[in-house]
Amino acid sequence: MKSPVAKRMGAIDASGIRRIFDMAASMKSPVNLGIGQPHFDVPDPIKAEMQRLTADGFNAYTPTQGVSELLAALRGQIRDQKGREPEDLLVTSGVSGAILLAYEAIFDPGDEFILPDPYFVIYRHAAKLAEAVPVLLDTYPDFRIRRERLEAAITPRTKAIVLNSPANPTGMILTQGEIDTVIEVARRHDLYILCDEIYEIFNYVGGAYTPVPSPWKAYEKTILLSGFSKSFSMTGWRLGYAAGPAPVLAEMKKLQQYTFVCAPSVAQKAALAGFHEGTQQILRAHVADYARKRDLVYEGLLPAFGDKNLVRSEGAFYFFVRSPDGDGDAFVERALAREVLIIPGSVFSSRSSHFRLSFAASDETLRRGIDILCQLARGKAL
Ligand SMILES: Cc1ncc(COP(=O)(O)O)c(C=O)c1O
Repeated sequence: MKSPVAKRMGAIDASGIRRIFDMAASMKSPVNLGIGQPHFDVPDPIKAEMQRLTADGFNAYTPTQGVSELLAALRGQIRDQKGREPEDLLVTSGVSGAILLAYEAIFDPGDEFILPDPYFVIYRHAAKLAEAVPVLLDTYPDFRIRRERLEAAITPRTKAIVLNSPANPTGMILTQGEIDTVIEVARRHDLYILCDEIYEIFNYVGGAYTPVPSPWKAYEKTILLSGFSKSFSMTGWRLGYAAGPAPVLAEMKKLQQYTFVCAPSVAQKAALAGFHEGTQQILRAHVADYARKRDLVYEGLLPAFGDKNLVRSEGAFYFFVRSPDGDGDAFVERALAREVLIIPGSVFSSRSSHFRLSFAASDETLRRGIDILCQLARGKAL
């Protein structure tokens, strides 16, 4: 009998997160700490531009590569903030779109890439389409990259190392030392570094818009991925970009032409309003508020969880917390029974000891959540 769908689809499992959100749909007033997007809205100047552009009829396809004004603005921003002008650039349908294109452009079936664990889910599952093989790099317990573990994960088939900083789900920012180690190993083995900096403005170590340490400047085989879903809080507008070596970008562009075609036209032009100083002031205030929320959550959880289970987030808007009894999945079940939505760590990792908490929420929601999570942690620790 013919299989109704392609066999490769069976290898992609989306049940983990879906189950949580299915359960949430039936809750009366969930304390939602599961969300992967800012809880503030798109800044007004960007929204006003979007309205003007649609009214003015800027609604057609754009060139596959992106509109020239946005490409010029991105080129300048990458040069000024990250210290090196890109060889080539492509505006994509979100960073998710860029990940798919980059994987297809660089991997042959059976090629391996190093993926620090915990990881953002798409990096693992999108590999199935390119038939590439993720080799997980254990970063527990402090979510730092160690040279010995990295060296041990390299094989003759390794083609790339994937980095994400600030990171989903851990909230960690790579140090310059970690970056230097990764570059040294990548150079020796002639690897690409795929670096996802989508949370770059949510930097609580240096402050908003302070560049995070990045391999971009020093390593020419870096494929930089970033976008506006998180920084401008426009996850639904589907806007990201990729920068990097010209031969890779040329292939990504070719494939985008036959898949996504182009990123949404109005989003591309409206995003330009996000580069203006007035809009950046609004965003800086949001990031300062998130730095405060990060402290609120850290100080709230620490007494019940202890510093062995709680690593202080440095960026993005997540904590990746160990359940005191080491069973993150069971902890999430107990939290869900109290209508607190958190995501099991097993969605993002080969281990199931942790859970992800998002602090992109109102202070009231955070306080209610912290209270219940501490009760649960104490109950189990007894
Ligand atoms: C690390 C990371 N990269 C990429 C994405 C996808 O972003 P986009 O909305 O631009 O596709 C996310 C979304 O959660 C993310 O956390």
